[in-house]
Formats: sequence, structure tokens, C-alpha cells
Amino acid sequence: MTTRCFVIGHPIAHSRSPLIHGTWIAEHGLDGSYERIDVAPDALERFIAALRDGAFAGGNVTVPHKEAVLPLLDRLSETARAMGAVNTIWREGGRLHGDNTDAAGFLGHLDASLPGWDRQAQTALLLGAGGAARAIAHGLKQRGLGRIILANRNLERAQDLARLLGPPVTAAAWQERDQLAAEADLIVNTTSLGMKGQPPLELDLAAMKPGTIVDDIVYVPLKTALLEAAERRGARTVDGLGMLLHQAVPGFARWFGVTPIVTPALRAVLEADIGSAR
Ligand code: ATR
Repeated sequence: MTTRCFVIGHPIAHSRSPLIHGTWIAEHGLDGSYERIDVAPDALERFIAALRDGAFAGGNVTVPHKEAVLPLLDRLSETARAMGAVNTIWREGGRLHGDNTDAAGFLGHLDASLPGWDRQAQTALLLGAGGAARAIAHGLKQRGLGRIILANRNLERAQDLARLLGPPVTAAAWQERDQLAAEADLIVNTTSLGMKGQPPLELDLAAMKPGTIVDDIVYVPLKTALLEAAERRGARTVDGLGMLLHQAVPGFARWFGVTPIVTPALRAVLEADIGSAR
């Protein structure tokens, strides 16, 4: 029987997850499918009921359902609970399980790109305080970083998130970001700034320490103005595409029982797709 999987959202047309999972399904010669399904907010409960009845093995959840789906599931991973958001669902023993793989995806990509990066990284500066910042700050805290600073346009939002995550996560005003960039070992853009159609992220990297890592989770374009500027200043740069690829691994492993590998060939498939969308 075909193992059917999904990504649900509203809208959903932009999702690149089918390309990732479709590539893995073909690579492993599996009898499986991964469908992009538009589910409006008022249809979410009905969709989850169909999943429960066995219509699918599991799937991914994106905006605007990541929070709304929580009460409809039976078991949540510790990370999903800490995030207050689910992006991966699977059926196991008649129960629906929810996890959030964003933090693991972020760290997985960083580990693969710069092995041992965390041995010397003490201070992280995160730009933004939304869902992506929450996942990344949580992951970095678990990794044991000594100082995690959230600089956000809306300071109150950063303060709320810092309080929720607890020390060593702290909040800073948006205007402080240039000065904080000079103290950071890892700088991460978790905002939508720099994304195609959005204004660039203004960040002065002139006083950056040698060896600083600059990671932009934006992946359209692949090389943002921030990464270009960081590269010119000799920083170690990490782009956002790897996070997208790595966050997909745990779900595929649950649904198909095979742990897929993020290969340069898969990356090339996605890069071609992003290139053609420009
Ligand atoms: P996600 O879940 O993807 O993180 P989000 O919750 O909408 O998305 O968060 C978007 C982030 O980008 C926020 O930190 C937002 O800042 P505010 O909290 O001040 O809104 C940030 N952001 C978006 N546009 C911005 C802009 N023009 N300048 C500065 N920050 C911006």
C-alpha cells in the first residue's frame, strides 16, 4: 500500500517540501507520496480526523496551522511543547504524535557546514523574535551557549520570548544590534528581512570578531545581502537552505522508516528550483 504523506498550510503553493521528500522517495525506491494540500483554518479538524482514520502516515504542518494543531494531537515531543508549535506529525500505535524539527534542522545544518563550531561559540546574537527565533534560541540553549541575545524591532516581543525561554536568553533593543554584532561568535538572521521582495537587513559588521559565523535562515535568494557583506568581511557564512533540508529528515524517517541523507545532489535540486523562481 502506498505510504501517503502531506504538507498542509494555507496558502501552500510555495512549499518546497514536496520537492525534498519526492527526491528522497525516488532515491530510496519507496512506494510513497508526499502531497501539498491546502487546508483552510476551518477545515483543520476535519483533516486531522482523516489522518487519524488512516488516510495518511503523517506529514508536515506550516503556517497558519503550527499552533492550532497542538490540541488535536495525542503526544507532543518536549521540543514541540517548548515551541508551542508543531511542524511534523506521524501516526504510531494508533496515536498522533507531533514534533517540531526546526531547531534540529538549524543545528543539523550548522553542524554539517562547520563541524565543531560550538566548541568556541559562546555568544549568539539572533535578529528577530518570532517563531523561527524561538526554535533557534531553544536549540542554542540546549547546546549550552553561554549567552543568547534576541534583538528585535518590537522589544517587548523579544522580552516576552526571553522570559519564556529563560537564561541565558536575553532581549536587546533593535538599535543595539550593530554593537552586539561585535561581541557575537554567531549571528543569525531569523527575520524575513533580506528575503526576495523584502527590505535588506541593515547590520553593520565592521567591528565583527574574526571567525564569527553569520547564518541567514532566508534562502530566497540563497546568498542574501547580509551573507555577501559577511563574506567580504571574512566571516564564516551559512545559508538558509540547509536548515530547510535538515528539518525534513526526522519526518521522513518516521513515515518511511528510512533515515534520508542531505546530499549535495539534493541541495542542487532545490538550488535549481530557487534559481528558476527568481
Ligand atoms: P517567523 O515565525 O517566521 O519567525 P514572525 O513570527 O512573523 O515569523 O516573525 C518575523 C520576525 O521578523 C519578527 O522578529 C519581526 O519583528 P517584529 O516582532 O518587530 O515584527 C521581524 N521583522 C519583519 N519585518 C521587519 C522589519 N521591516 N524590520 C525589522 N524586523 C522585521
